[in-house]
Order: sequence, then structure tokens, then C-alpha cells
Amino acid sequence: MKVHIYRDKAQAGQASALLLAAKIIENPDCVLGMATGSTPLPTYESLVELYNQGIIDFGRVRTFNLDEYVGISRSHEQSYFRFMFDNLFSKINIKPENVAVPNPVSANLQDDCLSYDAAIKAAGGIDIQVLGIGNNGHIAFNEPGRTFTFATHIVELTENTIEANKRFFSSIDDVPKRAITMGIGSIMQAKEIVMIATGEAKAEAVKAMIDGQIDPQCPASILQLHPAVTVFLDEGAAALLSR
Ligand code: GLP
Repeated sequence: MKVHIYRDKAQAGQASALLLAAKIIENPDCVLGMATGSTPLPTYESLVELYNQGIIDFGRVRTFNLDEYVGISRSHEQSYFRFMFDNLFSKINIKPENVAVPNPVSANLQDDCLSYDAAIKAAGGIDIQVLGIGNNGHIAFNEPGRTFTFATHIVELTENTIEANKRFFSSIDDVPKRAITMGIGSIMQAKEIVMIATGEAKAEAVKAMIDGQIDPQCPASILQLHPAVTVFLDEGAAALLSR
């Protein structure tokens, strides 16, 4: 893992966007893995800026999102589909047919899980995957548990995650209890990974991810086995690392 520590989240966002931009310049047909949450927002803002400056072009880029809540419509303010359009896709020249976010209201979720992984494979795999980390160490919606789950699957969200995500909903009862998420295998198959973590609330999870043992209790710790991970932190998220 290459770990870079920046002054604040804006700088970490800018730096991670530069790495993604370099990939897009190098390969205009690249396949990006996208993440949601508050963490990648500065990254997406910087990508929009680079696009507006004419430095990067999304005309041939394809994307796959990591995860989605189950049971809320795509137009719901908190759906990850809507999040991606509001914060990135509507601001760049990506083709709507080139973006994939798991379907939250599918009649056949199990089949959708299989076809999501198949679609990633058919696209040639993910060239570079953006990741955030939950304060319990989750990546995408792979929650802490006894084992790592390989493929895209349906997950029951932990209380910790429901609690952490309630800030986006009017009440805790409105937070969906299930999600569809790329599995650890789907994520680990990405050729390269950009992990972004900012703020002191992430410091413990970041320490477990980088300095801890590889353990499904901290799903992000599996990234120690990936050959090409770049971690972008701010001072707060890096506070507990042995340097
Ligand atoms: C959510 C998402 C994750 C994200 C994490 C952290 O539950 N499923 O992909 O990394 O929580 O969110 P935030 O960046 O808002 O702290």
C-alpha cells in the first residue's frame, strides 16, 4: 500500500482526482469503479473541474458503482444512483448507457448480483476502483463478519452503519436495512485501487486497515493483499498510524 497524507480533505480529494485523471488520460476507454458517501465528494468536484478545463474527457469511460441500498427508488434523494448523477455524472460528458449502479428495486436481486459481476467481467474488469471506508472498517457494504464474501451479494446492514448513515435520512427508521454490494472478490479484482479516508472518525478503521491483521472483522484490511492500492488520507484519518 502506498499511503499519502494530506493537510485536509480538499487536498486528499484533489490528489486522488489527479490519479484518476491520469488513468483516464492514459486510457480514455478505462473502466472506473465508483464509490458514494461524503468522502469522495471533493474527489468528484476536482474531476468535474478537470473536465471543465478540458483536461479529461469521459466520452468513452465506463463506470460501475460499488453498492446501492435495497428498496428505495432510483429517484430517491439518498439512492446512490441519484447521488452519482447529482454529484458527478450530470456534470461531465459520460454516456448514461456507460454507467452501472446496482438496481435497488429489482424483482430478482439474486440474479442481479450474478449479472452485475458478469457485466464487470464483460467490460474487461475494473481498471481503477475508488473506495471509502466505513468507521467500522467496511468497504462498499461489506460489513465486518466471520468471513469475507467474494461476489456481489445482498447484505443486512449493521446497526453501526445504519446509525452512521442516518444523517442522510429524516429519521433512523427511513434508513434502508439491506443493500446490494460488490463483494470483496469483485473489489480485489480491480487492477488498481484508490482508497480515500478523511476525518478523525475514520482514524481507528484506517489504522486497522493499514497496521492491523488481515481479518474479516475489518473488511478493509484485505486491501493489504492487493498489489496496487494508493491510500489518500487527511491528518485526522491518519492520526493513529505508526509513521
Ligand atoms: C457507506 C458506503 C461506503 C462508504 C462509507 C463511508 O455506507 N456504502 O461505500 O465508503 O459508507 O461513508 P462516508 O464517506 O460518508 O463516511
